[in-house]
Amino acid sequence: MQIAIRNLKTDDLERAHFAVEAEAIETLYTHNLSFWSTRNRDDLSEGEKQTIINDQNGASTPQTCGATDKLHKIYAETTRHGEFSLLEIGAANGTVMQRIGEKYPNPNFRYVGFECLPILAEDFREKFPGQTMHLGDVDDFIAKEKSFFPEAPFTLFYASVVFIMIKPDLVRKALEKAAKLTDQILIYDYVERPDVELDPSESLVLHMTNRPVYWFIHAWEDYFSEIGFKIADMKVANPTDAEMRSPGYDPQLRGSGYVHAVRA
Ligand SMILES: C[S@@+](CC[C@H](N)C(=O)[O-])C[C@H]1O[C@@H](n2cnc3c(N)ncnc32)[C@H](O)[C@@H]1O
Repeated sequence: MQIAIRNLKTDDLERAHFAVEAEAIETLYTHNLSFWSTRNRDDLSEGEKQTIINDQNGASTPQTCGATDKLHKIYAETTRHGEFSLLEIGAANGTVMQRIGEKYPNPNFRYVGFECLPILAEDFREKFPGQTMHLGDVDDFIAKEKSFFPEAPFTLFYASVVFIMIKPDLVRKALEKAAKLTDQILIYDYVERPDVELDPSESLVLHMTNRPVYWFIHAWEDYFSEIGFKIADMKVANPTDAEMRSPGYDPQLRGSGYVHAVRA
């Protein structure tokens, strides 16, 4: 069988860039899902569970701080004249609460999240009993009817380090669903424009031997115009030399940043 993957280059950060046809995208996405399902077993020891919980860190890094600043601005602008509400997928155990709390220690808002790992969803429910966490992945979110969200419309739909692991057709569907529930979307992900030539049938995928999942690189402009949104602001993180020497800095995340889109 011919494998529909073209090797484009390996960059200075040891990231292999592949142009991948739809059929092979399925295989790579199945691999990503199997990584997450190994963390979703009934027989995890207490130690393993604690490690998964402790691995979640909402603290801003040189790469995520731009997205967090944007989140703070949207929160501040909205709460000046009304209520802020947030809908999130790939929510972990509430790392966004920590991010908002960095500037607003006692934030007052309505939160609805989706998380596919039961351990993390349960940990969230223990920590934030007044808020809502649904157990589910991107497919579950897409499958929900609008009536499942009595809290809608939300001020903001948020996804941080989630879409990078999800294949393009599902990200498009998730954004289409989000557009039915909000007028504003904030994503922290890989946002740099790829400097490689792709055929229309191909998607860009990055692979690093030291990472367990493939990274899907998305065409944000196309996705947002398909759902009638426009990009209000998109920035690739640009850490200073001092930040690049700080412990939270991960060089392989070069090209990541945020995209903020609003209804056109
Ligand atoms: C790197 S963590 C990011 C967590 C959190 N959003 C943050 O920024 O701290 C990735 C999250 O995506 C979730 N995830 C992985 N695959 C997913 C999928 N196919 N659909 C929805 N969520 C997924 C994981 O359970 C995990 O919580």
